[in-house]
Amino acid sequence: MPPVTQRIENEAELAPFAARLAGLLRGGDVVALYGGLGAGKTALSRALIRHLAQNPDEEVPSPTFTLVQMYDLPDFTLWHFDLYRLEQEERDILELGWEEARRGGVALVEWPERLGGLLPPDRLEINIDFDTENGAAEGARQMTLTGHGAWQARLAAGEFLSL
Ligand SMILES: Nc1ncnc2c1ncn2[C@@H]1O[C@H](COP(=O)(O)OP(=O)(O)OP(=O)(O)O)[C@@H](O)[C@H]1O
Ligand SMILES: [Mg+2]
Repeated sequence: MPPVTQRIENEAELAPFAARLAGLLRGGDVVALYGGLGAGKTALSRALIRHLAQNPDEEVPSPTFTLVQMYDLPDFTLWHFDLYRLEQEERDILELGWEEARRGGVALVEWPERLGGLLPPDRLEINIDFDTENGAAEGARQMTLTGHGAWQARLAAGEFLSL
């Protein structure tokens, strides 16, 4: 299954995209959110968490300083990590509750590069890039979804683009 790509023209378009993404998730999943500074990892996380919480006003602060924020959602606990300020130290990630998150929770990870050897083989990878194609709106983003391990089949089965 080749990666799934979608252009997101503005922040408002994140809501329907996040809703489709939410439909694929279940407890135990890891979503690795790649993208440079300001790419929109937190904005996508916020849209996803608000959809899952069924609350468009849910407070979703960036975990820049706390490094992790937890959300008790109807179907699972979601752990929103931002590992930017971590060195590549697995011990520190474990101290943030990584193993607890992996026991049935969903881990949504900004800067997953920092996971090192803790990056699980089964994961949904999302890359966020600025969309500079002809005709793209100012500030538009390109989302690229790639399934690794068990996620290869799940992403294909989800027929994400037609959901
Ligand atoms: N899809 C989008 N379309 C337009 N603007 C967006 C989009 N996503 C995010 N933005 C804007 O880009 C800025 C940075 O977004 P955000 O904080 O989500 O980035 P980030 O990838 O989490 O950055 P960091 O690496 O610092 O955590 C915000 O001002 C946000 O409003
Ligand atoms: Mg962020």
